[in-house]
Amino acid sequence: MGRLNGRRAVVTGGGRGIGAGIARRLADEGAHVLVADIDLEPARAVADEIGGEAVGLDVSDPDAVRAALGGERTIDVLVNNAGYDEFCWFTEVTPTQWRRMLAVNLEGVFACTQAVLPAMQRARYGRIVTVSSEAGRIGSKGNAVYAATKAAAIGFMKSIARENARFAITANTLVPGPIETPLLDKVRALGEPGDKMVAAMIAGTQLGRLGTPEEVAAGAAFLASEEAGFVTGETLAVSGGMGLGA
Ligand SMILES: NC(=O)c1ccc[n+]([C@@H]2O[C@H](COP(=O)([O-])OP(=O)(O)OC[C@H]3O[C@@H](n4cnc5c(N)ncnc54)[C@H](O)[C@@H]3O)[C@@H](O)[C@H]2O)c1
Repeated sequence: MGRLNGRRAVVTGGGRGIGAGIARRLADEGAHVLVADIDLEPARAVADEIGGEAVGLDVSDPDAVRAALGGERTIDVLVNNAGYDEFCWFTEVTPTQWRRMLAVNLEGVFACTQAVLPAMQRARYGRIVTVSSEAGRIGSKGNAVYAATKAAAIGFMKSIARENARFAITANTLVPGPIETPLLDKVRALGEPGDKMVAAMIAGTQLGRLGTPEEVAAGAAFLASEEAGFVTGETLAVSGGMGLGA
């Protein structure tokens, strides 16, 4: 128990990887966590482990998001973590692929944020944390559309911070560097080019290693806590110094 005692939190994409790490950490700090994931089974496993709840939710479906997160529900903490990436050179990305990345990484963030805001405004309290990526700040080969969605999420959070400061709601962005999750396994599955990409990601950090979901979760817990009450519109990198450049 701790900084989030009595708080109700939602973590999208909380069934595995960074989202599961964030769900566990918020629960450790005392929050009641709703684990929302397009894959219900892993979400349920995480929720059972932490004494939370699970819901099968595709964040790219605004009606489903409104039904699951909107209305009279009071949600104190929203973590927009669900994300989707397809690795390939931009010249080969199909409109179907880019629409999916935009739908999950950007429109999903819009939908979840819009669903929870009215109740947060009524409560005059809220913490919104969106998981972006260093790719959104410095770009990433084979990830042009993904990087564009992640850059957009940063601008979106800054604007939400401005619009909602009068309700004492904060909105911040977390910027992970390369983190050991199933998402990176997708890169490795590309074979030699994938291994080279992961090696390049590690070399791009100052600390020369991959991060862990727990390290990102520590940043999320801080931004979700009352201790971060005077922090809004910020971008917190948990990226081993990747944003510093070579
Ligand atoms: N792993 C990294 O190196 C890294 C780096 C920077 C940023 N990120 C970002 O962190 C977040 C989590 O990444 P991860 O590495 O844990 O990814 P992951 O692929 O391991 O897990 C993503 C989770 O989101 C869920 N999800 C996917 N589409 C969804 C949808 N439409 N609706 C609801 N849930 C959905 C998946 O089922 C999965 O549980 C993402 O936003 C990702 O872009 C990851």
